Amino acid sequence: IKDADAVGTNANDRCGDIMKVYLKVKDNKIKDIKFHTLGCPSAIASSDVLCELAKGKTLEQAEKIDNKEIVKELGGLPVIKLHCSVLGEQTLKDAIKNYREKQARKSK
Ligand code: FES
Repeated sequence: IKDADAVGTNANDRCGDIMKVYLKVKDNKIKDIKFHTLGCPSAIASSDVLCELAKGKTLEQAEKIDNKEIVKELGGLPVIKLHCSVLGEQTLKDAIKNYREKQARKSK
């Protein structure tokens, strides 16, 4: 997203997959969300579903999205691929944290 309000980045040390999530926030709601994932198909699918789940939600609602919800929305993932959905959950949380840190800096 051009001029994103926040960016979250996360990587899985074991497999090396990297995920970035970009947020546009308005009135405490996620107005737009996009991802850039360098990784396996499960990580890319998890990123896509994460964006669908988070768009339009308040930040508080969005940070409650967990990997179980992502897996459910995907219709399941093999056990060996569950960490791909965790990567999605963590990256969104990181983006929300980044947004709040930026807001806190602006208010100083
Ligand atoms: Fe590691 Fe998918 S194999 S995120």
